[in-house]
Amino acid sequence: MNNAYCSVAIDGPAGAGKSTIAKAAAARFGFIYVDTGAIYRTVGLAVQRAGIDQTDGKAVAALLPELSIRLDYGPDGTQRMYLNGEDVSVEIRQPEISMYASAVSAIPAVRDFLLEMQRDMAKTGSVVMDGRDIGTVVLPDAGLKIFLTASAEARAKRRLAELLQKGENCTLQQVMDNMLRRDTQDANRAAAPLRAAEDAILADTTDFTLEESIEYICGLIRERFGLEDR
Ligand code: DC
Repeated sequence: MNNAYCSVAIDGPAGAGKSTIAKAAAARFGFIYVDTGAIYRTVGLAVQRAGIDQTDGKAVAALLPELSIRLDYGPDGTQRMYLNGEDVSVEIRQPEISMYASAVSAIPAVRDFLLEMQRDMAKTGSVVMDGRDIGTVVLPDAGLKIFLTASAEARAKRRLAELLQKGENCTLQQVMDNMLRRDTQDANRAAAPLRAAEDAILADTTDFTLEESIEYICGLIRERFGLEDR
């Protein structure tokens, strides 16, 4: 692992605010932000489009060699995902694709297929990377590991607000059911399950506003790496 760069691993269940907080923290210190969930979502979308059963490990594994998955950054600095050359960054956010992503992410061949791509990102510069297994598998030597969580109710309410803002039509109950189903699946799979690394700092943001959460995480980064804000 290249120690010239700082790496921050942020793991946790769905809706804990990982991506918003990680993105803000990366911008604060001039780090690259990597949303690894988006990479699994891209595979999930490819599986949905191919009409394959997302739990059929063999069929999904057979599709992988046909996929070209690329992660890039747009002119405004936001992460974009490309599937066989097509920008699918918006499409992968559909709630249905969340379930596909969670299902395909339990398949070891999918995890192996995406591992180097994620590790390579941390070789190009300092990163804040969020996901489920960053501190445990992808970047086990990360300089700072954070396990970000919040109560199920707080997470569902935040996710609902995000979806409503995007014009999606759903209820709190639907969001909660979908989220808990995904968390159970992500935490109970055999391959790289969602769990806190032994050396992770546990951050429960249930009673924090978004700003407070960002300040707390930025404080941890500043302290760990001896950094100033940009
Ligand atoms: O972070 P997200 O909700 O966009 O992730 C979608 C799914 O991808 C999630 O339910 C589990 C999977 N995932 C994973 O298994 N490992 C990661 N590092 C990131 C996401």
